[in-house]
Amino acid sequence: MKQFLVAPSILSADFAILGEEIKKIERAGADWIHIDVMDGHFVPNLTFGPPVIKKLRPHSKVFFDVHLMIDQPEKWIDDYIDAGADLITIHVESCRDVKTTLEYIRSRGKKAGITLKPQTPVERLFPFLESVDLVLIMSVNPGFGGQKFMPDQLRKAKEIKKNIQNSNPQLLLQIDGGINAETAKLCRDFDVLVAGSYVFSGDYKIAIDQLKKAKSTLLE
Ligand code: DX5
Ligand code: ZN
Repeated sequence: MKQFLVAPSILSADFAILGEEIKKIERAGADWIHIDVMDGHFVPNLTFGPPVIKKLRPHSKVFFDVHLMIDQPEKWIDDYIDAGADLITIHVESCRDVKTTLEYIRSRGKKAGITLKPQTPVERLFPFLESVDLVLIMSVNPGFGGQKFMPDQLRKAKEIKKNIQNSNPQLLLQIDGGINAETAKLCRDFDVLVAGSYVFSGDYKIAIDQLKKAKSTLLE
C-alpha cells in the first residue's frame, strides 16, 4: 500500500529539549524531520539557525529537511549544509538569484527545494522546476504553526504537474501547513506531508501512522 512520507515540523516541539524530541519523533516513525528556520524579517517570527541544527545533527540519522523562511538565503547556504541539512528549501520571494542558489545546493551534494507563499502565483516557480528535487506548497501563511489549512492552494500541485510533465519525473511535491488526518486526505497530488501541531499535540506514533495511511483514503 502506498503511503505518504511524513515530515514532522519541530516548530511545535519543546525547544527546551529538542534533542530528545527528535529522537522520539524518529522512534515514532518520522520519514524526515522538517526544520523551520525563521529570521523575523521574511516572516514575523524567529526560530533558530545553523548552530542549533548542528547540535541536533548527532541526535538522529533521519533526513533533515530545512525550510528557510529568511531574507537572502543565498548568503547562508554553506552554513546550513555544514550544520547537517540534507535538503534546503528556499522561498522564491526572498532569493536574489534563485537558479544559481539551487544549483549551488546541488553542487554540494544536497537536495534543493523551492517554495512560495500562498499569495504568490505558482507561475513564479515554473522557471526552476528542472533545477529542484522538491516543490513545497504552503497551505498557510508561513510564520506560525497551528493555522487553518487553505484548500485553495491544492490546485498549485496540479499546475506544477502539468508544467513539468516528463521533464523531472523524480520531483517530489510537499505540502506544509494545517495538515492533520482529515486535511491529508485532500492531498492526492503530494508525496510528502509536513505536520507540526497535529503530530506534537498527542501521541507522536499514532499521529504519524494516521498521516502515512491517509494516502489510502484520499478524497477527490
Ligand atoms: C509554517 C511552517 C510549518 C509549520 C506547520 O511557517 O512552515 O512547517 O510548522 O505547522 P502546522 O502543521 O501546525 O500547521
Ligand atoms: Zn515549514
